[in-house]
Amino acid sequence: MNEFSVSSVSPSNIAIVKYWGKHGNQLPNNPSISFTLSRCHTETHIKVCPNSGENYSMRFLFEGKETPKFQEKIEKYLIDNQQYFGFLKGIDLEIESSNSFPHSSGIASSAASMSALVLCLLKIEKIVNQDVTPLDMRKASFLSRLASGSAARSVFPVMSLWGATPSVPDSSDDYAVPLENMVHPVFKSYHDSILIVSNKEKSVSSRVGHSLMNGHPLAEQRYATARENTERLLKVLKNGDITEFIDIAEAEALQLHEMMATSTPSYKLMEPNTMKIIDLVREFRHETKVPACFTLDAGPNVHLLYPDACDNQVKQFINDTLLQYCHDNQFIDDVVQNNVK
Ligand code: PMV
Repeated sequence: MNEFSVSSVSPSNIAIVKYWGKHGNQLPNNPSISFTLSRCHTETHIKVCPNSGENYSMRFLFEGKETPKFQEKIEKYLIDNQQYFGFLKGIDLEIESSNSFPHSSGIASSAASMSALVLCLLKIEKIVNQDVTPLDMRKASFLSRLASGSAARSVFPVMSLWGATPSVPDSSDDYAVPLENMVHPVFKSYHDSILIVSNKEKSVSSRVGHSLMNGHPLAEQRYATARENTERLLKVLKNGDITEFIDIAEAEALQLHEMMATSTPSYKLMEPNTMKIIDLVREFRHETKVPACFTLDAGPNVHLLYPDACDNQVKQFINDTLLQYCHDNQFIDDVVQNNVK
């Protein structure tokens, strides 16, 4: 085998129904549904050099620099899941990865980076095995999930559902399924303007956050609500009811933060400017009837979600009113991804 290279670009995603709490080997305690983004993505290149031994080696560069934290994370992932990576025997991997979003945005998307890595590894497997069939995206989702739960949802365009859900027969806790064919056109054009309230790294990792749901006094109630919201959202995605979409999205965001606030230890990840922006978004919606709403990830930044038809009005609102509450007046202008490759 000669030396060769593979590349992949994989997007970040933003959950509307949130995954928070897991068991076993990265299995979710409730289903989740997300929009796949397009402008926030990770690009990964892997140079594959055959070696004369039985083992593999791996060197990882993030934006041109050695990053021991990521190197260790990938090494651990490959060792823990070696049953799926037998094809790496006898090769040296030189992995280079970079993100499209600014360094100083405080956004670290493990969903984008881990799914980009998995897509590259599956391309290597195809080449090593001289297999010319298309990539199996379900397998890509499954292996991405083992690296970072939410990464399972990044491999499909538009929207994904991860977690067994009665009304979607092929849904599973093991991998995400695409929702593209079950989504009203209005949601396929959605915007996500990510308002950067703080550029600091999260004060609680999602690994620790998920573990705080074990023994949490509100856990069972939370999982039941998330299951209900999943079924509600699936209906809304079909019928295009934006008013109900807004109810679900905002309640899910606030409930995620409520879980963190009421865990032991307790975490408060919203900042005063997060609250200010939330209030202003609700006021704007009330006064103008523009159906923009917010969601939150496990951090202080606000994701402002709205249909394409309102783009001009919302952009003006962002510039005139919201940017003053953002770190360095920063926001990331993202949209739903319609063509994941
Ligand atoms: O994929 P993880 O383990 O980083 O967890 C992600 C959790 C949230 O982003 C808060 C919610 C979600 O469903 O993406």
